[in-house]
Order: sequence, then structure tokens, then C-alpha cells
Amino acid sequence: MSVLRINGGKRLRGAIKVQGAKNSVLPILAATLLARGETVLHNCPRISDADAALDILRRLGCTAEREDDTVVVRSDAASKRAVPVELMREMRASVVFLGAMLAAFGEAVAAKPGGCELGPRPVDLHLAALRALGAETEERDDGVIVCRARGLRGARIDLPFPSVGATENALLAACAAKGETVIRNAAREPEIVDLADFLNGIGARIRGAGTQTIAVEGAPLGGDTEHTVIPDRIAAATYLAAAASAGGDIELMGADPRTLTTVTGVFSEMGCRIEAGRDTIRFTAPERLRAARPVATRPYPGFPTDAQPPLMAAAITAEGTTVFVENLFEDRYRHVPELQKMGADIKTGGKTAVVTGVRALKAARVRAHDLRGGAALVVAALAARGETEITGLHYIDRGYDRLETALRTLGADARRA
Ligand code: EPZ
Repeated sequence: MSVLRINGGKRLRGAIKVQGAKNSVLPILAATLLARGETVLHNCPRISDADAALDILRRLGCTAEREDDTVVVRSDAASKRAVPVELMREMRASVVFLGAMLAAFGEAVAAKPGGCELGPRPVDLHLAALRALGAETEERDDGVIVCRARGLRGARIDLPFPSVGATENALLAACAAKGETVIRNAAREPEIVDLADFLNGIGARIRGAGTQTIAVEGAPLGGDTEHTVIPDRIAAATYLAAAASAGGDIELMGADPRTLTTVTGVFSEMGCRIEAGRDTIRFTAPERLRAARPVATRPYPGFPTDAQPPLMAAAITAEGTTVFVENLFEDRYRHVPELQKMGADIKTGGKTAVVTGVRALKAARVRAHDLRGGAALVVAALAARGETEITGLHYIDRGYDRLETALRTLGADARRA
């Protein structure tokens, strides 16, 4: 089992390019099934969740080759087959293949999502949206989901909660439905806009992506296409948290500051200087961070739940007390006991975590229990005196493209053994 060893206490300096967005490339890879041609996808991050999605496409009869950050998928030979259940169990985002397979083949079989342990990951909103479009859905006792549709027809879908995944599945299936679909209370994340841009590039007629009401006019889709995935705003937030925690002055290239304003707003409160360019962020940390006003996670454009763990890790050495309220997931504080091993003073109760800043952290052997919680351990280790050992790297590798290489570029003493 590989271990990440980080010798903390070194300020970060330099510039790195931000990877393509994990939560954009996954639904777009699923959407290549609808292209029924050649898709050239640029800025595709090298992360295990993307590799798993490429495996699923290959199992469905596509070819998929990677060259550096560009992936080429040919889906004209894709045929309806059940996606191997064991492969679906590997990643939460595999459930987004449901909508794409239903649209492409009229049927879809998938496993109830595996992936990060953030509490229960129900898919009731996904299945209700697909049923509204005319699909029959079944959740079998063995955890397999089966969807079938003799023909999808446009519908009005009212999401009780702006679920990102349910919005994506509804959008993908609606592209193949006859007539118009309107999705209300849709998720507004930038990754939804990126998916809609990709689908419109192969003939879809989607309006309103990024707002809470999305309209889709069913249309025949297909054709060769080329697309560049948007920057990963959560990876960007993680590198900012690393520089805030370790101290330093870094520049993020290929970022999109407009998608990060709630995160950079909190770092400004904490005393960091932020200069946003069109596609760059210049970030300078103060000698010591100040605590921030309470941070409550919300659906976009609110403060992103995925940035809560790394930002908490930066707050543990700030002067003062920062309160976090995690409103999206029931069990997203599993990084707290690991941070406490490093000397953090954090008290949790239900949705709330109260972080009282300490002057210094100490190195420890810690374990990642989920993707962003693992990133939080890296952020804290950069500030801790001594060598911290982090295991559970398979979680980190799901979403971060060569994390330790990027940190070494910024001057950190980080290496995988
Ligand atoms: C997406 O997950 C992201 N994953 C998550 O990122 C992110 O944390 C989340 O959106 C919120 O922004 C991908 O895009 C691959 P949701 P998703 O449906 O779609 C409840 C990361 O770190 N819910 O918006 O699963 C659910 O239990 C990952 O990159 C239902 O009740 O998120 C949760 O409490 C972690 N029924 C809330 O909604 C449903 O059918 C938000 O879930 C679906 C969701």
C-alpha cells in the first residue's frame, strides 16, 4: 500500500496549472455515448474516476485512447450491454451512465453507487426524473438498478432538491425524449453548464443550463466533436488551501476565478491576498491566518461542500475560531479524527464543526477516508512540523491529478513511497 510522506513547514511558491474538472469530465464521458462518433476531449484529468469511466465506455463497445490530457472516444459501435456491476460499484459518478445509456440504448443497468463514504448516497431523485420521462425503473435487492424505456417523452421535472447527479441524468435522458422537457430546481453548478455545452455541440437543444430552470428540446444527436473540459474549481480550492496552510505565494494557471468566489471570499476574510485574472489566480497568504465567519455549505452558487474539508484543514492553525456547517452530506467530517491526531482542536456535533485555531501542528500517521477528506490531510501536513504519513491514497487518486507532483513544483517536500 503506497504512502504519501510530507515534511511540513515549507512555504509554497511558484505556479501550477489547474487540472480539468473531475465532476465535469465524468458526465461528459457518459454523454459521448450519444455522440455515436468521435469525441476529442481536452483537459481530461488523469484520475482513477476518469479511468473507470473510460473502462465502462470500453465495456459498452466504445474505443477510448488517452494521449497526455486528451482523450479520444469513438462510440459509434457502442451497444446496449449491462455495465459490469463490479465496475459501477467503484465510483459514485457511475450512476450518471444511467441517463446516457437510457438515451442511447433504451435500457440501462447499473449498480447502486459505490464511491466516497459521505453518508447515504440515495438515487431516488435520479430514478424519479427518469420515470417522469417514461422509463420503468427497478432497484433490485442485490443493489442493481435496472431502467428500461420503450420511448422517452418530454416531461416537466420538479426536483425537490437541486441534486447535481439527478440534474445530469435528467438532462442526458431528456436529450433523447420526444418533445420538450423542463427541469425545475435544477442544480446550477458550472459542471452542468459544461455538460450542456458538450451536448449542444452534438446537436442537443438545451437552454438555461446554470440557472434553476433548464429546457431541453429532444433532437437527433450525433457527430464527431471536440471539447475542452472546464477547470476543476475544487482542485483549485485545494491548492489555495495548501498555500494558506503552509504559507506562501502561488499562482494558479488555467483556473476560473468566477466559479470560486465563495471560496476566495473566505480566504480574503482570513487575511489572504487574492488577485483574480481571466484564467489565473494569484494568492498570497499572511504570516498567520485569521479565523473566518461561519462557513455553511450550500448548493452552487453557495459555498461548495467539496471545499469544506481542505478549507477546514487551513483553518486549524488560524488565529481564532471558525465554525463549519455541512448541509449537503450527513457524514462529511471523517477527516476530523485524523486532523485531531495532528493536534487540531475541532469539536463536531451533527452538521456543525467548531475549529479553534492552534499555533502549531505535529506530524502523524493519518488515513484518508474519502476524497476531499484525504486532501484535507495533505493541506494540514504541509503546515505540520516533521514528516506526516498519509495512507488511503486511492481516495485521493480518484480526484486529484498528480497531486504530490504539483505540490513539489510549489516547493513542498512531498513524495509517494
Ligand atoms: C456531486 O455528487 C459531486 N460528484 C460531489 O462531489 C458533490 O459533493 C455533490 O455533487 C454536491 O455538490 C460528482 O459530480 C461526480 P447531489 P452528487 O446529488 O450528484 C442527496 C467530490 O468530492 N440526494 O447534489 O451525488 C444526497 O444524499 C464529490 O468530487 C438525494 O437525497 O450530489 C446529498 O445529501 C463528492 N437523492 C445531496 O442530495 C438523490 O437521488 C447532494 O447530492 C440524489 C442526491
